Amino acid sequence: MSVSVFAPISIGNVSVGFDTLGLCLSPVDGQLVGDIVRVEKLLKTDANSDQFILTGTHADKLPQDTKENIVWKCIVAFNTALAQLGREPLLIKVTLEKNIPVSSGLGSSACSVVAAFVALNQFYQLPFSEIKLLKMMGELEAQISGSLHYDNVAPCFLGGLQLMLNDENKITQKLPTFDDCFWVIAYPDVEVSTKAAREILPAQYERKTLIEFGQNLAGFVDACYRQDKEQAFSLLKDVVAEPYRKSLLPNFEKSILELKQLGSLASGISGSGPTLFTVFDDRESATKAKDWLTENYLQSEAGFVHICQVDHQGARKC
Ligand code: HSE
Repeated sequence: MSVSVFAPISIGNVSVGFDTLGLCLSPVDGQLVGDIVRVEKLLKTDANSDQFILTGTHADKLPQDTKENIVWKCIVAFNTALAQLGREPLLIKVTLEKNIPVSSGLGSSACSVVAAFVALNQFYQLPFSEIKLLKMMGELEAQISGSLHYDNVAPCFLGGLQLMLNDENKITQKLPTFDDCFWVIAYPDVEVSTKAAREILPAQYERKTLIEFGQNLAGFVDACYRQDKEQAFSLLKDVVAEPYRKSLLPNFEKSILELKQLGSLASGISGSGPTLFTVFDDRESATKAKDWLTENYLQSEAGFVHICQVDHQGARKC
């Protein structure tokens, strides 16, 4: 008995919704960009404790001590919740294929956490509801980033554009999206930890900023429902984080000016960076942006650019 689950990348914040909006994406060329977790049953004759295997292109950037790995911590949390239901955990082997660079702004830790919980829930034949799983995912994600925010785990788990609600009985609401748009993401390969990128933000904001933030977020959500693309992307401005974080990204301001020349509808920082995102409504311009970013924004061979569209599926068996 075994289950493998793929969990895709996501853009946290989406400029207008700090800690409040998140968008799940997949490349248009069909590549699976995200982490994979596989759960297999072990026989008591073969092993006397759970096993954890770490593979994938970014495995070497994670703690090599199994107990420090976030997926291991997910197993512990899942087993505790199972025990609360009166069910006994089975002996398992769990493999994490770590494909997304850590501290990339693409919801890397969410990919691992979501893939782990969905795979474990599938393996045990769905003992937990969607909302219970989401809460467990949020708690584990918080252990890594230092604060509870669902803007990566919710879209990664459920797909699409998710709006976090201040309501613990619901947590998130899926919003309508512009499905003909192309979201180009560029990871330059410089490291920006979410924790550090949160620490540089002010503890308080001026009333003027608060009003602008509310107007942009409310206007964007309204434009999504009305499918008013022009309005939506003209409001996609970050007044909360981008002014403080942009210096952490290589030539961010110069890059977004150049992308505007190429026809970009909007650009911003993906999550806490350093990935930059930029949106187009035609594929030809998105391809030109991809080429420009590959040439000018990437800082090493390990950087990458993908042309994506909204992924409505979220985490899924693979
Ligand atoms: N909302 C979080 C932040 C996302 O911007 O700090 C982290 O990916």
